[in-house]
Amino acid sequence: MHKGKGMKFVGDSRISAERKPNIPKDYSEYPGRTEAFWPNFLLKEWLVGAVFLVGFLSLTVAHPSPLEGMADPTNAAYIPLPDWYFLFLYQLLKYEFASGTFSLIGIIVLPGLAFGALLLAPFLDQGPGRRPHQRPVAVGMMLLGLAAVMWLTYESSSHVDWETRAEANKPIPPSAIEIDKEDPGYAIYEGNCMSCHGEDLTGGPAAPALIGTEHSAEEIAKIAQEGIGSMPPDQFQGTDEELKQLVDFIVSVNEGAE
Ligand code: HEC
Repeated sequence: MHKGKGMKFVGDSRISAERKPNIPKDYSEYPGRTEAFWPNFLLKEWLVGAVFLVGFLSLTVAHPSPLEGMADPTNAAYIPLPDWYFLFLYQLLKYEFASGTFSLIGIIVLPGLAFGALLLAPFLDQGPGRRPHQRPVAVGMMLLGLAAVMWLTYESSSHVDWETRAEANKPIPPSAIEIDKEDPGYAIYEGNCMSCHGEDLTGGPAAPALIGTEHSAEEIAKIAQEGIGSMPPDQFQGTDEELKQLVDFIVSVNEGAE
């Protein structure tokens, strides 16, 4: 066991016989220029991160993201918009130099340059200083990016009439739908239409909602007998009296939901 004690075995000339502990130089040797990653720096990062996380959590609890109304594939006037945090990219695609034949510039080249610059940031600016004025390139690029994103977002949102849009896409609050199951029309609806248009007239995978329909009572009666688009004809089976009750029922639910 103690054989060789006091001797030095050196097999690989690249490995020094004296094992130096792998400890970086003391930070006091670089006054004001660096700090320990662990725990000082990480702790700061985590603190800031936690503040933002809790902030966002509280925001989402206080203001749940608004849902729009049910998607309507027949509505050609609907302009889909990305969420606010992508509006700047969306706006970029509206400029002539980044749309049409140049759309690749707007889709790949410009965003690619911006994110590429993010990757290159450590190489572009290697100054040791940590104060903003000591890092003009990094700070300049960040301010430029920030200004561009803010300006594009502002430009994009100023062209949208948010109130009209919200009004047109209002979801139907479930509480607003009142279905009178005693209504004689309900039984007829149940027997003829419910399998496709849903228990509470809000539609299903195969058929649109009947709440919010733009069709008049006469049109609904006609559709019930003759079908429309992909709705097959002869869905309604019964007397004229029953047809009237059915249509009255659908109209009354619609009136209640307004
Ligand atoms: C087999 C499934 C099915 C049944 C059963 C059915 N429908 Fe439909 N209905 C559809 C589909 C699918 C559409 C969408 C047609 C289109 O726009 O192409 C539709 C559309 C409608 C529309 C137009 C909605 C709008 O606003 O565009 C009305 C009104 C309607 N149905 C009423 C009825 C009534 C009343 C009954 C019962 C008598 C009924 N439907 C039964 C499948 C069905």
